[in-house]
Amino acid sequence: MANVVVVGSQWGDEGKGKIVDWLSERADVVVRYQGGHNAGHTLVIDGVSYKLSLLPSGVVRGKLSVIGNGVVVDPHHFVEEVKKLADQGITISPEVLRIAENAPLILSLHRELDGIRENANSGLKIGTTRRGIGPAYEDKVGRRAIRVMDLAEPDTLMSKIERLLTHHNALRRGMGIDELSADALHDELMQVADKILPYIDRVWYQLDQQRRAGARILFEGAQGALLDNDHGTYPFVTSSNTVAGQAAAGSGLGPTAIDYVLGITKAYTTRVGEGPFPTEDHGEIGNFLGTRGHEFGVVTGRKRRCGWFDAVLVRQTVKTSGITGIALTKLDVLDGLDEIKVCVGYELDGERIDYLPASMGAQERVTPIYETLQGWSETTAGARSWAELPAQAVKYVRYIEELIGAPVAMLSTSPERLDTILVHDPFQD
Ligand code: GDP
Ligand code: IMO
Ligand code: MG
Repeated sequence: MANVVVVGSQWGDEGKGKIVDWLSERADVVVRYQGGHNAGHTLVIDGVSYKLSLLPSGVVRGKLSVIGNGVVVDPHHFVEEVKKLADQGITISPEVLRIAENAPLILSLHRELDGIRENANSGLKIGTTRRGIGPAYEDKVGRRAIRVMDLAEPDTLMSKIERLLTHHNALRRGMGIDELSADALHDELMQVADKILPYIDRVWYQLDQQRRAGARILFEGAQGALLDNDHGTYPFVTSSNTVAGQAAAGSGLGPTAIDYVLGITKAYTTRVGEGPFPTEDHGEIGNFLGTRGHEFGVVTGRKRRCGWFDAVLVRQTVKTSGITGIALTKLDVLDGLDEIKVCVGYELDGERIDYLPASMGAQERVTPIYETLQGWSETTAGARSWAELPAQAVKYVRYIEELIGAPVAMLSTSPERLDTILVHDPFQD
């Protein structure tokens, strides 16, 4: 029985939500293992759109859904998202959702700090989602985070809050903003404690039990490999590891449980926020892709930057995430273009290279080397079988496979759940 990890192979927003939703019909458990409510995953089912940020996409099908220890959890947002889904007819209860007891919390002070840093005129603007993700992970590795289960231990919660505030109030004094009182933070947490505590679980144990019982586990990555804190376009990255390896550490199920890594890959490239983007197009093509692809952020509503497919980046992701096969999404957005360019290598200081260099300066300096393919005039939108694809579209898909060194296991041709072509079932690996 195969367990499958879904990861974004570019800068996020590749269509992970749609593919996880589709695959979750075949899965028993869906697990988020990193990130938080910086993610925005869209599912479209019979014309109805669902947008998930913190909750695993499996909740929409009523599959057992798990928020692993690698996720940072904003308890207030959690309550809101559960309510929003309830308004759409999706009932979330502890029967279908478990939250790792050892997941760190995102607090209002993290959100505030994220915003202050982004608004500062000095330093580096990352263009974060301002949801407190980075500051919450800092406290986690700094060993002063408040974790979900701490809410169940009122006797020791206050001392944990005081320790956290020793750090934060020193920071706040330095920034010239009001210090926070332990009582106020305690109250903030007590407001939500009884709403989140019913969901907590020993997730590593629960997943081990599921695995032993033969369940199929689907891991739902957030963001994309180029936003990975180690392997991405640092410092313009998120604060977690987004590569597939994190599925093991962020859930407590060891790496031997992973059988297949599916890289969700957009047929062109987008990025939201600051940072290098070699194939970014500020002209007609960038506009075309953004308009046709409805490239606006789910979480922040920001316009996404757009450009041609960059095979150098995805080839690198295939290696850093150990991708077995890809799901190629949004092929339909390219319908009707006379020609389509693909970045096959970079030029850096007069030399040709076939990888993304690690240094920030070099990442800014690389210029793409393109190959041009003929486009297709027919439509692929809504295609549900390989046979419906025009020959030139098939050529494009085959060319991408060759360049990145991984096969296409799935193809997506519209936002709708069923407009999907299965080439190879990842669960049957
Ligand atoms: P995620 O963060 O990876 O889950 O992706 P987002 O939901 O942020 O962005 C992907 C967008 O593309 C959403 O609006 C999806 O509904 C949409 N989408 C997904 N697959 C396809 C596809 O094959 N074609 C088109 N046209 N849209 C798609
Ligand atoms: P999904 O799961 C695209 C980007 C932000 C910013 C950087 C750091 O929907 O693909 P953060 O708030 O995480 O500290 O911001 O990461 N970012 C995303 N971009 N898709 C996402 O998630 C993202 N989550 C964070 O725009 O550049
Ligand atoms: Mg998204």
